[in-house]
Amino acid sequence: MQLLDGKKTSEEIQLEIAAEVQKRKSAGLKIPHLAAVLVGNDGASQTYVGSKVRTCEKLGLKSSLFEYPAEITESELLSVIKKLNEDIEIDGYIVQLPLPKHINEEKIITAINPLKDVDGFHPENVGKMCIGLPSFLPATPFGIMKLLEKYKIETDGKHCVILGRSNIVGTPMSVLLSRKSYPGNCTVTMAHSRTKNIPELCKTADIIIAALGIPGFVKADMIKKGAVVIDVGITRVEDSTKKNGYRIEGDVDFHSVASLCSYITPVPGGVGPMTICGLLLNTLKAAENK
Ligand code: GUN
Repeated sequence: MQLLDGKKTSEEIQLEIAAEVQKRKSAGLKIPHLAAVLVGNDGASQTYVGSKVRTCEKLGLKSSLFEYPAEITESELLSVIKKLNEDIEIDGYIVQLPLPKHINEEKIITAINPLKDVDGFHPENVGKMCIGLPSFLPATPFGIMKLLEKYKIETDGKHCVILGRSNIVGTPMSVLLSRKSYPGNCTVTMAHSRTKNIPELCKTADIIIAALGIPGFVKADMIKKGAVVIDVGITRVEDSTKKNGYRIEGDVDFHSVASLCSYITPVPGGVGPMTICGLLLNTLKAAENK
């Protein structure tokens, strides 16, 4: 079994991003600028956005954080989006999800200028991704593709079972892995809450992408020997022995599963750090596209 080390791979890609930013600076070009919109005070969202902003600063990109209380109205948030679309200083931005229940996420995402949509969530970017046109790829699937590429994981003709059908991970992952290019050419099965016989299905998989948000869902008896297992889960589980009161758990029961795999991502240190790379690669591209 070999670990797919997202932390190390992410650091390698971050060096490349920093070099690219430096090259732009030396050439007198604009420094890429990422903005993030954070609504409410969800602890996990604050952590993710904070980490995105800090990584920008570390790599020499500019970043701005716009924070609003959970009570912001939909029309006020739409005005924020309009301002960000018009701000020529900002190359790309994200609106951290989930948003409070009274705000229609679809309406907000659709209002983002597709050219600044570095999350790749706008219908125009999703559509382009589906038919293989250049677009911003959603950060987590983009990061997973980079990880598969870096470790030269064979994907051609492999059976890939994707657990979860979210717009952020499961659905785009199914599109990308069935594309006619590397990493891709997989036969993809997407499984979800209504799928029958998930354990038997997983047992036939050469590659499993677990993105359900259910800690420890994937167990040893669901794994074919030699499978590649990618764990996207990052659920906070209460733990009084930890200083912050919680620990992070993936969707895979790592301890029972790892020895059966050819490759597996750890949690933390697997997919998480690769997501930031995906986002920053998109931001660089947004600046270059200008
Ligand atoms: N919430 C969970 N993952 C993501 C992501 O990749 N982007 C945004 N904007 N929100 C998220």
